[in-house]
Amino acid sequence: MAAILVAAVMVVVLSVNAAESSTVEYQFDVATMNVTRLCGSKSIVAVNGQFPGPTVSAREGDLVVVRVVNKAQYNMSIHWHGVRQIRSGWADGPAYITQCPIQPGQSYVYKFTVTGQRGTLWWHAHISWLRATVYGPIVILPKLGVPYPFAAPYKEVPLMFGEWWKADTEAVISQALQTGGGPNVSDAFTINGLPGPLYNCSAKDTFKLKVKPRKTYMLRIINAALNDELFFSIAGHPLTIVDVDAVYIKPITVETLIITPGQTTNVLLTAKPSYPGATYYMLAAPYSTAASGTFDNTTVAGILEYVDPSSPSSAGFNKNLPLLRPTLPQINDTSFVSNYTDKLRSLATEEYPAAVPQEVDRRFFFTVGLGTHPCAVNGTCQGPTNDSRFAAAVNNVSFVLPTTALLQSHYTGMSNGVYSSNFPAVPKSPFNYTGTPPNNTNVSNGTRLVVLSYGDAVELVMQGTSILGAESHPFHLHGFNFFVVGQGFGNFDPVHDPAKYNLVDPVERNTVGVPAAGWVAIRFRADNPGVWFMHCHLEVHVSWGLKMAWVVQDGSLPEQKLLPPPSDLPKC
Ligand code: C2O
Repeated sequence: MAAILVAAVMVVVLSVNAAESSTVEYQFDVATMNVTRLCGSKSIVAVNGQFPGPTVSAREGDLVVVRVVNKAQYNMSIHWHGVRQIRSGWADGPAYITQCPIQPGQSYVYKFTVTGQRGTLWWHAHISWLRATVYGPIVILPKLGVPYPFAAPYKEVPLMFGEWWKADTEAVISQALQTGGGPNVSDAFTINGLPGPLYNCSAKDTFKLKVKPRKTYMLRIINAALNDELFFSIAGHPLTIVDVDAVYIKPITVETLIITPGQTTNVLLTAKPSYPGATYYMLAAPYSTAASGTFDNTTVAGILEYVDPSSPSSAGFNKNLPLLRPTLPQINDTSFVSNYTDKLRSLATEEYPAAVPQEVDRRFFFTVGLGTHPCAVNGTCQGPTNDSRFAAAVNNVSFVLPTTALLQSHYTGMSNGVYSSNFPAVPKSPFNYTGTPPNNTNVSNGTRLVVLSYGDAVELVMQGTSILGAESHPFHLHGFNFFVVGQGFGNFDPVHDPAKYNLVDPVERNTVGVPAAGWVAIRFRADNPGVWFMHCHLEVHVSWGLKMAWVVQDGSLPEQKLLPPPSDLPKC
């Protein structure tokens, strides 16, 4: 018996070597812990007593196995943001979309293979606002022996932006949903959990990037903030962008980058040739066209510091050096944002091709933006007027999460009463989307999905509306990367705009900003069976219904079918 076991184990090991991929395993204990920030201490939900949470590291092709044990008092689910989850939708994570939440005291093992991706992604809680503190990086290295398409950096450092409330974030969102008003804005932004020297009591909580002269560092930048797109710049140090959302791009060098919640950006930073007589601030501050007071407009700082190699433990070279600050764009500098996003291009080489669908099977035109719900009869609300509540909708449908998981209903063929398959492909009645708002801003509720056949080439134009003010909406699609083939301001023109599409080397990503008072066109191939969430990655807008889901049916071949659910899939 023992001999048979040994033989079996050896077979497994051998086949793993042959495939040059391996299994990486993690345990995530989700529990509350106390953290002190901004002059006060607060209890947060976190993973393994770490904030931000642990880094999940894998190579392209690896099987990742994460056992999540929920020791907190909230329902939990974890999403592996940007991981394609080919045929493994059960491991995607959005609560009530691909799984029921993991209840307190329960556990669930997420298992997925990282296929065809390399760069930086991230994981986060995908239920209510718990991702405020439940998040961490995913680092995907190229396959063993495969180099980066750029000179290998001396060191790689994750740099994660977050957003901090002094109050309990679950209380913040539940109060907002009760009153119908906007939630209280955050008190600080953070870099790797640290607010930095521009906030009270926070000088000791400052992220420091220690560098050596001449060395090149790769920063794996992630925006995990709940509600804010961020500008980022480091004084005196240009950044060369080489990868976004775990896809290589044609390198571009910038002073300042913009990153929306959900996006990742790998940049190379080369330290100056000698010890400069200064230390350097890195700053991140929001980009927003929303009304002031509706978002946190503070600035987080970290410090880039040159270290003396002869005494590597010395914190900083000379405390009395001048501190240089970068200049960030104006808070509402929409033209900066569109110029920047226009410059991003896929590598589109033989090794890293851009497989842009050239023909389209299904076309969709979605309006995205805010609207209202009526306040309850005789109630007083704190929405845009005191008889309305804030809501948000795609094609006028404000998405309502079901009480059971959509993927399971789809898989078992029991969608009756859970969802309908009639999500509108175009707005019910066209209007001037970016012009004077209509009189009636009410949106309708629904759990409506779009059904796609396996392999459909999809083109989706997302049109921002100015019904309650024009804002940028960073839209994230689960289960796929898409190509950003066009963008523009004003109303999309179906006659002239498609002629300007880039179908050669458009950037490929999983989250894209729908421009404020503008539109963006994306294309993707529906080659991943399952149920896939799509939503604005500003959490407040998700709470208001700015979300929908796609069903992709199985294909005819065995490898085109959704795998069966794991036996420990949580129950509602
Ligand atoms: Cu990063 Cu559905 O989320």
